[in-house]
Amino acid sequence: MAQLWGGRFTKETDRQVYEFNASIGFDKRLYHQDIEGSVAHVCMLAKQGILTSDEMQSIVGGLRSIREDVESGKLVIDDKYEDIHSFVEANLIQRIGDAGKKLHTGRSRNDQVALDMRLYTRLQVLLVDDLLKKLLEAILNTMEEHVETYMPGFTHLQKAQPTTLAHHYGAYFEMFKRDRLRMYDIFKRMNFCPLGAGALAGTTYPLDREYTAKLMGFEGPTLNSMDSVADRDYLIEFLAALSTVMMHLSRFSEEIIIWNSNEYQFVEIDDAFSTGSSIMPQKKNPDIAELVRGKTGRVYGALMSLLTTMKGLPLAYNKDMQEDKEMAFDAFDTAKECISLFTGMLATMRFRGERMAESAMNGFTNATDAADYLVNKGVPFRDAHGIIGRLVLYCIGKNTSIDALTLEELQNISDKFENDIYDAVSLKTCVEKRLTVGAPGPDAMREVIALHREYLAEEAEWLPDQSGWEEE
Ligand code: ARG
Repeated sequence: MAQLWGGRFTKETDRQVYEFNASIGFDKRLYHQDIEGSVAHVCMLAKQGILTSDEMQSIVGGLRSIREDVESGKLVIDDKYEDIHSFVEANLIQRIGDAGKKLHTGRSRNDQVALDMRLYTRLQVLLVDDLLKKLLEAILNTMEEHVETYMPGFTHLQKAQPTTLAHHYGAYFEMFKRDRLRMYDIFKRMNFCPLGAGALAGTTYPLDREYTAKLMGFEGPTLNSMDSVADRDYLIEFLAALSTVMMHLSRFSEEIIIWNSNEYQFVEIDDAFSTGSSIMPQKKNPDIAELVRGKTGRVYGALMSLLTTMKGLPLAYNKDMQEDKEMAFDAFDTAKECISLFTGMLATMRFRGERMAESAMNGFTNATDAADYLVNKGVPFRDAHGIIGRLVLYCIGKNTSIDALTLEELQNISDKFENDIYDAVSLKTCVEKRLTVGAPGPDAMREVIALHREYLAEEAEWLPDQSGWEEE
């Protein structure tokens, strides 16, 4: 057992209590952020004359050597310490002696952990944004290739109207683009530095919080020291945004599973992204899509868990907040892996354009267009709807489609039908005529695709500015 406190205790901590309380098992992944925060803190302490320049240099050197040794595997983060903060501080003191004991001047583990978690989460926001951008690129590549690949559009999972693969994918482009916008919003809102809040009420040392904030690329310091150590909103927002990403991935997965089924055969998932069955030799299963759909629950779980942890907490820090980490880390890892695998699966999937077009032709997806045809011939829409309804019923009885009927059969139902009906209800016409913004008509679609290309070419302008370190 190795802990930073003990002066006011007369007994050793019970072993089980120690283990229950410790967080090193999972907060060890914050080592990089913990060291970065400590380096910024001591640079500021020296600038303010609270530490000498020699002390600062010795501490910074020690901290950097710890980081190098952890990264090279020479130093293993040992579970005998209570948490990552204790591990780094104890190691520093072992390496540089008494100067190391000054690292924690004007700081508490409460503002320290608030900073570490915020730095770590900020990095995850950027990583997720980057993965989402790659996913959008894969989606857009498919859209460009399939502006004229016809397929049925569904409502209630019943064939509704014809559309194109580009249009269907375009819906997901919008979803994941909104997800990226959420990343941007979260980043902007969270990018303030809690360090210097101390345990809860600031400190009596003349800290320069603007300076530490700037060194680490924050917009500025947080403005209330109690809120600084008690706030996990940014994490809740990020988990909510990740839950939304997962919900989108899960819906897309569900569609791919359906499209890949023997009944549909709209797509074929690449062998590299499929798995087999131990008993049924013929099987090729869409396990990746199923797992992405399945893992969505874990990410929702992390969000619900943290919302519940936070809901009854009085200000300021409470140990309950240590529970912000494990499930959040799992959610970060899960979401990133899912986005990345899903992108690979999409990029390698093959489409069966003929199957899709055939399916679009067979399900009366042109019934609305047939009704619109009658409207153009002067029939009120409600009457046209009734006429086409009867026509569909007639086709079902004959096991045929509207475009396969003879003109005589059509005219038996309405004398408004003429020879131009066949062109009006062809799949191509049905899609091509849909030219309003956001519709699948190829000309409308190409304009939207061009906008998406421009959007993806833009560079993110909101990355943290860490140029402050140059002054060091
Ligand atoms: N392991 C703790 C956490 O994750 C660090 C902060 C500890 N602070 C304290 N006052 N015990 O929240």
